[in-house]
Amino acid sequence: MRIFLIGFMGCGKSYNGTRLAKVLNMPFVDLDNYIEEKAGKTIAEIFSEQGEEHFRKLEQQALHQMTAFDNIVISCGGGTPCFFDNMEWMNENGDTVYLKCTPQTLEKRLVKGKAKRPLIKDLDEQNELINFIKSKLEKREPFYSKAKTIFNTESEQYEPWIILGHKIS
Ligand code: S3P
Repeated sequence: MRIFLIGFMGCGKSYNGTRLAKVLNMPFVDLDNYIEEKAGKTIAEIFSEQGEEHFRKLEQQALHQMTAFDNIVISCGGGTPCFFDNMEWMNENGDTVYLKCTPQTLEKRLVKGKAKRPLIKDLDEQNELINFIKSKLEKREPFYSKAKTIFNTESEQYEPWIILGHKIS
C-alpha cells in the first residue's frame, strides 16, 4: 500500500501523515524533506538559487523514486499534484488522499510557517496572504479533487479521524 497525502500548504499533510504511518506501522516520507536531503539544500535555497521550474523537476523525480517503497505513507508538497502528470501518476501508483481545508484555516496556520515557504514568505498578513491562498487554492482544486479520497478536515464529525478505514489519533 502506497498512500499519497495531498493538499494545500498548511493542511496538515506531514502532521497527519506521521500519525497515519504510525497506526499502519509503515514508514513515512515527507517529499520536501526527501528532496532537501537529496539536493543537500533547503527548499528555500533550491527556489532562490535554481528557480521554481528546477524545483518542480526535482519534485517529480523524487515522486517517481517512491516506487522503491511498496508500503509507505508519503506527504507531498502542496504543488506536487499540480505539475506534469503527477496527479494521474499518483492515482496509478497508489492511494491519494486530499486533506481539504478552508482558506481561513490555512491562513491561520500559514502565518506561523511562512518563512520557510518560498511562495508565501514575502506576502503581508493583512490581505496578501489570504488573497494568495484563495486564488491559488481555486486553481489547484481541480487537481486535488482527482484524489481517490477527499477528507474534509473541518466537517468530519468524528475524532479521531478515520482515513482509508484507519483510525488516526
Ligand atoms: C509548495 C509547497 C511546499 C513546498 C514548496 C512549494 C507549493 O510544501 O513543496 O514550498 O507549491 O504549494 P508544503 O505543502 O509541505 O508546505
